[in-house]
This record gives sequence, C-alpha cells and structure tokens, in this order.
Amino acid sequence: MHAPAAASLKAASVRFGSFTAIDNLSLEIEAGSFYTILGPSGCGKSTMLRLVSDLIPAASGEVSIFGKTTEAARLAREFAFVFQDATLLPWRSALKNVELPLEVGRKRGIELPVGNRSPRELLELVGLKGRENALPHELSGGMRQRVAIARALVCQPKLLLMDEPFGALDEMTRDHLNLQLLEIWRETGTTILFVTHSIAEAVFLGQKVVMLAAHPGRLREVIDIDLPEPRTIPMRDTAEFTRYSARLRELLETC
Ligand SMILES: Nc1ncnc2c1ncn2[C@@H]1O[C@H](COP(=O)(O)OP(=O)(O)OP(=O)(O)O)[C@@H](O)[C@H]1O
Ligand SMILES: [Mg+2]
Repeated sequence: MHAPAAASLKAASVRFGSFTAIDNLSLEIEAGSFYTILGPSGCGKSTMLRLVSDLIPAASGEVSIFGKTTEAARLAREFAFVFQDATLLPWRSALKNVELPLEVGRKRGIELPVGNRSPRELLELVGLKGRENALPHELSGGMRQRVAIARALVCQPKLLLMDEPFGALDEMTRDHLNLQLLEIWRETGTTILFVTHSIAEAVFLGQKVVMLAAHPGRLREVIDIDLPEPRTIPMRDTAEFTRYSARLRELLETC
C-alpha cells in the first residue's frame, strides 16, 4: 500500500457566492516533497492553501491531509501556515511568539506532537540565536519572517503551507532564506507547499511546480524540476535552470 499523500484534492471546488474561485482541482501532494505553486494574480493560489488548511470549505469535491479530513488534521496540528506578513504578536518577544502555539495547545488541553526541538533551538535553526528576547518591531522584516517560520515548526508539522512568505524581502535576504528553508526541509522531512510570484524562486525551491490558471482557478500543469539536490545559488546560472524558467514563463503567459 502507498503511504497517504500529504495533501490530496479530488475534484475540489471553492465558491464565494456565485463566483467560482477554484474549479474541479485534483492534485496529489507527495509526502516529503517540496512543491511550489505559481499562477497569475487572482487565480486562486491563496484560496487553495486556505482550502487545504481548513480555513474555508470545499463547495464540492474532497480534500484530505495524510488521509484525514482537513479538520482532523488541523486539530492534530499536522500542518502549519506561514503568511506573507509575519503576523507576530507585537508585545511578545521572538521566543514568546515561537512558544505561543504550545501555550495555546496546553490551555485547550490538546495533545501536541512533541517536537525534537525546543522554541529556543528553532530560533537557532533559523539563524536568530541571541535575538530571543527582541520584540517584533526591533527585528527586520526578514528576521520577523524567520520567527514566523520557527513558530510554524514548533508543533513539528508534517505539512508546511507557505503563502509568498518572502515576497516582501530584498533579493539577498530572500536567497538566504530560500537556502535556509531548503536546509530545514531536508532536516525535518516535512512536506512543503510554497506559493510564490517569482518564477526563479519556484524553480529554485521546487521539486515540482504546480501551475494554476485563472478564470476560473484550475490546475494547468505540474512540472517536475529535475535539478540536482541540494540546490545551490550558482545553479541558477545553468542552462537547465534557464530552460525551466523559460518554459514556466511561456506557460504562465497562457494561464
Ligand atoms: N473571501 C473572499 N470572498 C470573495 N472572493 C474572494 C475571497 N477570497 C478570494 N476571493 C477571490 O477569489 C479569487 C482568488 O483569490 P486568491 O487570493 O486565492 O488569489 P491568488 O492567486 O492568491 O492571488 P495573488 O497572487 O494576487 O495573491 C480572486 O478573484 C479573489 O477576488
Ligand atoms: Mg495570494
């Protein structure tokens, strides 16, 4: 028997009133893989992540996470979400923000998956050792985003959903966080579903790129990125990388 998919969408549709945001989307996200999601603005990328994370319901079709309903997976903390802006609590230190999901879980009497790493170790993993006591406004945008990633990892999610987490950052910081994220992915074995606007980022991070089309939001194609692992920055100057980028740009123009 096959291991269950990290996420499975079967003919899933999402409607907002009479508007169809996602139409008949079927997709299997293989456990342990890194998927990037590309598509024109408004095609339903964020909606797809919100559907998978049980924030909005499917109007029809089925969505499951590791063989469970999205609600059961949410309650079991099997996935975590990182948004475009870090959404930290401004009055809590970096460390206290990372500890928050654990506190909330304890208060509600939810049994949480026990992580291998403490909040302090997670902050070290994302390169913020020494900044544990800093408040969000004392950190740069990139640092705040790293705190959000550490917070997302604290319940050891099997699936990490990321919606343009590095979209607002400068290129150097983005490169650095891309590499850090790949390292975290390799180390933790978590499955990652990562929305981006950047073709280069989609190729660099993804083992597979999910291309969505708009009007209505639907699956266009899933493209395998067969670049060597681990990915390195100089790979972006190779002919192979350029070919993938050109192919995606062409596809994107017809979405
Ligand atoms: N709560 C909502 N109510 C009504 N319409 C919505 C709602 N959320 C999203 N939509 C619509 O659904 C479509 C898909 O939106 P979504 O945010 O998923 O796009 P996106 O692909 O993430 O775009 P972007 O790349 O700009 O972030 C859009 O037309 C949007 O206006
Ligand atoms: Mg979006």
